[in-house]
Amino acid sequence: MIGLLEPLVRPLLRLLDAEDAHRLAIHALKFPPFVKLAADDPRLAVRAFGLNFPNPVGMAAGFDKHAEVPDALLRLGFGFVEVGTVTPQPQAGNPRPRVFRLPRDEAVINRLGFNSVGADAVLRRLAARANAGGIVGINVGANRESIDRIADYVRLIETFAPVVSYFSVNISSPNTPGLRELQQAKIFDELLARVMDARARMSREAGTTPVLIKIAPDLTLNELDDLVGGARRHRVDGMIIGNTTVARPPTLRDQATAREAGGLSGRPLFALATRMLAETYVRVEGAFPLIGVGGIDSGEAALAKIRAGACLIQLYSALVFHGLRLVAGIKSDLSNALRRGAHAGIDELVGADAAAMTAEKWPI
Ligand SMILES: Cc1cc2nc3c(=O)[nH]c(=O)nc-3n(C[C@H](O)[C@H](O)[C@H](O)COP(=O)(O)O)c2cc1C
Repeated sequence: MIGLLEPLVRPLLRLLDAEDAHRLAIHALKFPPFVKLAADDPRLAVRAFGLNFPNPVGMAAGFDKHAEVPDALLRLGFGFVEVGTVTPQPQAGNPRPRVFRLPRDEAVINRLGFNSVGADAVLRRLAARANAGGIVGINVGANRESIDRIADYVRLIETFAPVVSYFSVNISSPNTPGLRELQQAKIFDELLARVMDARARMSREAGTTPVLIKIAPDLTLNELDDLVGGARRHRVDGMIIGNTTVARPPTLRDQATAREAGGLSGRPLFALATRMLAETYVRVEGAFPLIGVGGIDSGEAALAKIRAGACLIQLYSALVFHGLRLVAGIKSDLSNALRRGAHAGIDELVGADAAAMTAEKWPI
């Protein structure tokens, strides 16, 4: 149903403020479509972090911040859904307007600033669907006014371990002042020690819930060395590369909107995020799997992420411009690519181009 109505509805949604359009989309998803999708091509199945993903295409964090529609998204064909960012206490985020479309660039700038209904409300929703199946991870973040930000992450691990498939520890949002400082080596080390300890304490009750770290694409390579070193020492389960960028590529065409403060996502992020993914892959040396995010808007872009080192991918911004049909399109393109290359599965392609990519000129 959503697939049929979408071409009619999307131009109207574009007339609305970006955040109002998003609220409307979430409401629409609360009335799930009746159409049952065909099962995924078994070659698209991925096993990572001890979880079995039916396909590698995930909904990135930020779309379903409050865990209102994870099951509708799974039914629409996503292989997994990352809800959040959720903060321990409810908070309003930054004043509106705070989400901007750059249509000519197929990009978005947001400075939402972790608007969250808070952990209690999200826990009620996730607990109610805990036995529904499907891979639903949660992206966790600290409250803006929190004095001990690491304690916020610890509390969220303790709260959600029994009801989620994995954690994404978000230390890379550019819209909470000082949050990205958690990526500095010494603080990062303390964060990981306390987060992994909380996960271990919860394991009797909740099993070993995978912990992934979501990083910024704006790190220097020296900073990346430190982060990967820390992640390997503390034996995290994976990394997500990455969040939105504070950079503004000179090629942007919607120059006026490009001056808005916030994180840029969508097509103009692709080159930088994919390069950082490849740089991470060569440093991780197979110690844990990676999720590639940033600017995926086609099967070709998804395949490039996989060849740069991701075994799973996520997307958000391209859905604003191309709609949810993109998910089926990407899956079908990936299936065809596997068939053409006579590959049994995605894992045969993961990282195939990583070393070559790291030798290329740095993307602007
Ligand atoms: C409106 C909007 C809100 C977002 N909110 C979050 C968030 O709460 N937490 C987070 O980790 N990432 C958030 N992101 C970043 C996305 O998860 C993703 O990392 C980024 O947009 C790059 O992917 P894309 O180019 O496919 O959009 C948000 C992105 C957008 C566009």
